[in-house]
Amino acid sequence: MDTDNNTEALSKSSVKYFTLEEIKQHNMSKDTWIIIHDKVYNITSFLEEHPGGEEVLLEQAGTDATESFEDVGHSKDAREMLQQYFIGELHMNDRKKEAGKDIFITTTGKTSSWTTWVIPILAAAVVGVMYRYYVLEQKSS
Ligand code: HEM
Repeated sequence: MDTDNNTEALSKSSVKYFTLEEIKQHNMSKDTWIIIHDKVYNITSFLEEHPGGEEVLLEQAGTDATESFEDVGHSKDAREMLQQYFIGELHMNDRKKEAGKDIFITTTGKTSSWTTWVIPILAAAVVGVMYRYYVLEQKSS
């Protein structure tokens, strides 16, 4: 059992990384690689099976096909099919720098959620104080 887990962990940690330059070479019908969501797939044997035809795949051969793949709105089945052609991941240096942008947006989001908490709390405190004065005034008069 333990050995199985170890083997799995090992195979997961030994993912291969390919550079864009390397992937670009595999752009022909006898040797077709594409990138989808930073993962690299060798789809040579899938070309003829593709329900959308091999032409569209060959147009994307050796490049990042994420946008075209998503534009078509592929089914869950199609996404699961992808897994069997997985050969590695795109090298970190060649990935689009979207992550930085996300962090920036998240940070801004956090700042604004901080202010949205403080304003209602302050408002509630002010109302509470006013209410106390009002009750005290009523009692004393
Ligand atoms: C290896 C990656 C891909 C796999 C496994 C895949 C799989 C499939 C499958 C299973 C379908 C049938 C419909 C569905 O289940 O969604 C389909 C349809 C289609 N795919 Fe892909 N596809 C891949 C990549 C692409 C790319 C990169 C493009 C575009 C450049 C594309 C364009 C299309 C089109 C146009 C259809 C036909 C849609 C229709 O007739 O309704 N596919 N694909």
